[in-house]
Amino acid sequence: MSYKLLRALLFRLDPETAHNLALRSLGLMQGIPSACRSVGQRLTVTDRRLRQEIWDLEFGNPIGMAAGFDKNGNVAKAVAALGFGFVEVGTVTPRPQPGNPRPRIFRFPAEETLQNALGFNNRGMAAMKKGLAGQRGAGVPLGINIGKNKDTPVERAEEDYAVLFRELSECCDYFVVNISSPNTPGLRSLQEARIVQSLVRQGREITPRPILVKLAPDLEESVAVELGQAAVDAGAAGIVLTNTTTDYSLVAGADRVGGLSGRVLKQRSFELLECLAAELFGRCLLVSVGGVDSAKEAYRRLRAGASLLQIYTALIFQGPSLVREINRGLGELMARDGVESLEEVIGADR
Ligand SMILES: Cc1cc2nc3c(=O)[nH]c(=O)nc-3n(C[C@H](O)[C@H](O)[C@H](O)COP(=O)(O)O)c2cc1C
Repeated sequence: MSYKLLRALLFRLDPETAHNLALRSLGLMQGIPSACRSVGQRLTVTDRRLRQEIWDLEFGNPIGMAAGFDKNGNVAKAVAALGFGFVEVGTVTPRPQPGNPRPRIFRFPAEETLQNALGFNNRGMAAMKKGLAGQRGAGVPLGINIGKNKDTPVERAEEDYAVLFRELSECCDYFVVNISSPNTPGLRSLQEARIVQSLVRQGREITPRPILVKLAPDLEESVAVELGQAAVDAGAAGIVLTNTTTDYSLVAGADRVGGLSGRVLKQRSFELLECLAAELFGRCLLVSVGGVDSAKEAYRRLRAGASLLQIYTALIFQGPSLVREINRGLGELMARDGVESLEEVIGADR
């Protein structure tokens, strides 16, 4: 069935119901190794020019699954089979929590935009640990995105991050400290240089895994740069830009809840990448996310200084073959420009 047809059916369902159906299907696929293999063979682009070695890990291509799709890490292996070069699971919190009341995901098809107010609904770190134990060897690097529980007071947030670093260190290849979701009250107030430094320093004492920090697109540019610098000074391996935006003026008719992702976030996410690249390129790894929806856009982000990219919303609107399309397209753009490796592409426009 073409994705156009499947999408017409899925879009008749409430977005979260459709999402859960997709997760269930991926779960079924994951349970049948031959199905996972054959999907992987069809959707994975093998092109040595797209490969990178980062933190002693092999990234087969620069396109990753963004956080929030597989919050519990149940289907990381199946997601990897869609052709991703790496997969990020979470956001996971120490204890299970239900998230905000439904409905809490909304679609804006004309704008290829989603709005979500989920609020870190997840089964908690113990369930994630158990689930991931059976999936090592997903074949691609795996990141865990971590956040605090809603009922943990902001002043005690560091304790939540500490226990997550400790408990999940053996289950992943890198961590992302999420202090930028708009759906947990007070979380964004952790976006302060002193706090970011303390979170990263504490993490470095607990885990040998690379630690990245994920920022919001709604920060003043100078503040985002300051936070990026503070994180890197404290030993962060990279910055993930960006989470969803609370600039509701970007979509006519959007309620003032949650965060917007997809096409309306594209330009803002790009601008923030350029700002951080101006200060931090070469000092840490930049991961660009927000409105990446084509090979052309992916190429632009790489040339602006991102080493890795992530997608979420465009996958919902364009379907699972998008990853293959982007990777093939990147190969074509590289051939057009006569470049032989991503190293020559990354940061070329700076
Ligand atoms: C339904 C939904 C849930 C999300 N959940 C999380 C999350 O739990 N943690 C997080 O760091 N980002 C989360 N995000 C943000 C994405 O990881 C990403 O930063 C953002 O959507 C921008 O990328 P996109 O435009 O490709 O979707 C979520 C996004 C969506 C649409």
